[in-house]
Amino acid sequence: MSDRYAVIGNPIEHSKSPEIHAAFARQTGQDMLYERILGSLDDFEGDVRRFIAEGGRGMNVTVPFKERAFRLADEPSERAERAGAVNTLTFDGDRVLGDNTDGAGLVRDLGCNHRFAFAGSRILLLGAGGASRGVLFPLLEEGPAELVIANRTASKAVELAVRAGDARVSGCGLDELKGRQFDLIVNGTAAGLGGEVPAIPDDCLAAGGWTYDMMYGSEPTAFVRWGQAHGAARALDGLGMLVEQAAESFYIWRGVMPDTGPVVEMLR
Ligand code: ATR
Repeated sequence: MSDRYAVIGNPIEHSKSPEIHAAFARQTGQDMLYERILGSLDDFEGDVRRFIAEGGRGMNVTVPFKERAFRLADEPSERAERAGAVNTLTFDGDRVLGDNTDGAGLVRDLGCNHRFAFAGSRILLLGAGGASRGVLFPLLEEGPAELVIANRTASKAVELAVRAGDARVSGCGLDELKGRQFDLIVNGTAAGLGGEVPAIPDDCLAAGGWTYDMMYGSEPTAFVRWGQAHGAARALDGLGMLVEQAAESFYIWRGVMPDTGPVVEMLR
């Protein structure tokens, strides 16, 4: 029988993960099934336990369950600890292992696929919720000179910056960015859900700077359009990150790293 995996979230019907993992499995000759599970807001934990009892081998976890998955994991990885969130569960006998591949996915997409030069760069990270928390430490490991977290609610950005405990990191409100310039602006806010862009100054992208929206869509997102309109050398959306974080999960489960390029092409 094929090994079973699933993605759990709420809502879940638009998740591309089953398509991505099916493509990885075909490409690498792995015998596995990967399904979608609509998680219950009241009993996410019960849904996970049920999947384990049915013989499930692992799960991807998406909005809004990543923090609950972190609490459920018996053994969170260091990456999961730092993010306070889990997007990859592995069921190993009666142990539940938790990892977080979101940050690695972003860094691989930017650094390996698109060759952004992180070393010495000035990074602006927009938002201080789960999405930003998940990518903060992996971004810092790439060696930027400075990383500013800016959030609509300034106190949350300051709190996250303090938690980072790194002299290169600071936090502020969106309205405190006047006169600052960045080589990379990463959007981790939920503003795009309403077709909006965080209220940042028009001139905060340095000449030759890049923008990256962690969201993606069939049309360019509002933040991709912001980047294009403000002279970004590259204005990327989060499809590459999605495929790369999936590849990292696939590697954890199967020990084989799939080739992501053709899968991004297929989804475009
Ligand atoms: P997630 O876990 O997906 O990051 P979250 O924890 O609800 O979700 O965080 C959403 C982030 O998007 C927050 O940083 C939020 O800012 P606030 O902390 O001020 O709420 C940000 N956000 C949501 N809508 C926004 C908007 N229209 N403009 C700017 N920031 C927005």
